[in-house]
Amino acid sequence: MFQTKGPTLWELAQQALSSTEKGYDLLAPKFEHTPFRTPDDLLLQLQPHLGHPKRALDVCCGTGAGVRMLKPISEEVVGIDLSAGMLAEGEALCAESPGGAAVSFQKGDALDMPFDQEFDLAVSFGANGHILPKDEPAFFGSIFRALKPGGKLVLLTGRNPGPLHPFWWAAKGFNAAMHARNALVDPPFVMFYLTMTWPELGASLEREGFTVEAKSGVFSGMYRGALMVVATRPA
Ligand SMILES: C[S@@+](CC[C@H](N)C(=O)[O-])C[C@H]1O[C@@H](n2cnc3c(N)ncnc32)[C@H](O)[C@@H]1O
Repeated sequence: MFQTKGPTLWELAQQALSSTEKGYDLLAPKFEHTPFRTPDDLLLQLQPHLGHPKRALDVCCGTGAGVRMLKPISEEVVGIDLSAGMLAEGEALCAESPGGAAVSFQKGDALDMPFDQEFDLAVSFGANGHILPKDEPAFFGSIFRALKPGGKLVLLTGRNPGPLHPFWWAAKGFNAAMHARNALVDPPFVMFYLTMTWPELGASLEREGFTVEAKSGVFSGMYRGALMVVATRPA
């Protein structure tokens, strides 16, 4: 699962004992070689479904996998993330990536972004597990405000596999360990599995004012079970 250039178990443990922000600062130089980075194969399957946005926003952009996918199809792309380390890696990688869009990276909290009706498209990949259920209204509200009327938020998710699937038990075990870690160590590291699954994700988005649609059949191969969720800020 981890490549040889990826982090050691010791480095992952140090990351998990830091805050979310500092943990990603530590992981940043090796993040591209971890399974936490959204794969290009998946992003390239999504790209034809995103049209040609004038201004696009990648929320929790990390090292910019989504920014690089958006660069050839947009006029301008902004990536925002908590971790300065991840942003620095993203800037270096995006400087060399193909596409004509103007790209910029900004440090900020996805729960309280400083944007007001500025973007035609927002995406967020690999970050669902970093948003606590209690923070979903702030997260989706912040993205709603960032979008122009008629603008779209695109997210990826799947259905909860339920307790008959071994992954469900692995995820519950991981989440229990994370809750215990956060009860004992401050500041918390926020990362949980099986969050924002469908259809609960749709209901959370609708509560913030979005019109929501989930599209299946967009992805093939190992991603064929993934859903493309399109949440539109009404015009
Ligand atoms: C698993 S990485 C995904 C990075 C990238 N989007 C990708 O798909 O490869 C999650 C990212 O979310 C960022 N993050 C977590 N919570 C955040 C928050 N509240 N605001 C902004 N960024 C956040 C982390 O710093 C990290 O870079």
